[in-house]
Amino acid sequence: MEVTETPIRVQSITQKVPPQYIQPLNLRPTKPTTNNTIPTINLSSDVITDDISSACRDWGAFHVVNHGVEKKLLDEIRRNGLGFFEEMSMEEKMKYGCEAGSAASQGYGSKMLVADGGNDGVLDWRDYFDHHTFPLSRRDPLRWPHFPNSYREVVAQYSDQTKILAQKLLGLISTSLGLSSSFIEDAMGELYQNITISYYPSCPQPELTLGLQSHSDMGFITLLIQDDVAGLQVLKDDEWVTVDPVSHAILVILGDQTEIITNGIYKSSVHRAITNANKARLSVATFHDPAKTTTVSPAFKPPRYNQVVYGDYVKSWYTKGPNGKRNIDALLI
Ligand code: OGA
Ligand code: NI
Repeated sequence: MEVTETPIRVQSITQKVPPQYIQPLNLRPTKPTTNNTIPTINLSSDVITDDISSACRDWGAFHVVNHGVEKKLLDEIRRNGLGFFEEMSMEEKMKYGCEAGSAASQGYGSKMLVADGGNDGVLDWRDYFDHHTFPLSRRDPLRWPHFPNSYREVVAQYSDQTKILAQKLLGLISTSLGLSSSFIEDAMGELYQNITISYYPSCPQPELTLGLQSHSDMGFITLLIQDDVAGLQVLKDDEWVTVDPVSHAILVILGDQTEIITNGIYKSSVHRAITNANKARLSVATFHDPAKTTTVSPAFKPPRYNQVVYGDYVKSWYTKGPNGKRNIDALLI
């Protein structure tokens, strides 16, 4: 499988959209036909198990408020992220460049790979910075931007607080299915967390491109915040629903491992990002995954999915590309 790192960052494209970023007709964004909105769950009150379970069952993605992550920190990580992407020169940023073709490396990058099959070689209109944050042995802030000054400290604090929230949510998800509250956490074993700050430059022809192509996340649970520029869409009953930015809410996205362990009672959310012509957009996605050696299997019988070693799952994801949910469908019994 050939894996190619794009030589340039999207942010440095100033003219019209180069051909490798133009989506085939059937994948281009269309005007949303629904004004459905994703549910919001208030975590400060006694959380109603039914609310969690219907949000997970019907959507696989929902907002949480009163989530325990300091509001100031949400603002700060967005501000520091923007500072890196918009105020550092390209030359400075490239000093943090990801290694070519390496999916495992952290740093500044564009599309991680161009797989021959999965995405027809079309590139995303997105640059990103990926940080390894847990286990702590992987956390090396010296590899993160040194500008703005507070960047490293803010990312570390954000990592600590979102990990606690992720654990709380995994507990609620477990109990909503009648499992012990530590069930998913125990099955996950050592928690791996990565934080990806994505920067979607404004795009001269947004009708031709995607910021991030349709996919579901590989791990257990993703916590995502966006700035005030809309662009994220989740698939609900075969329609794309725009997730309106809510400044201090956090979006919870269920990943493929949650679908496997819940035996498909809860489905991972298929989502994508669209671009716009007017304003750059920033998001911060925090992924919570098992170790590569961990085997994940359904908690209920009869199993509808084959068990999988997480590292194999990740490898196959990078081979096939993230189109839709093809990866997890391969595990269906
Ligand atoms: C992701 C993701 C969406 C966004 O990074 O997996 O879905 O809005 N990001 O950046
Ligand atoms: Ni995603």
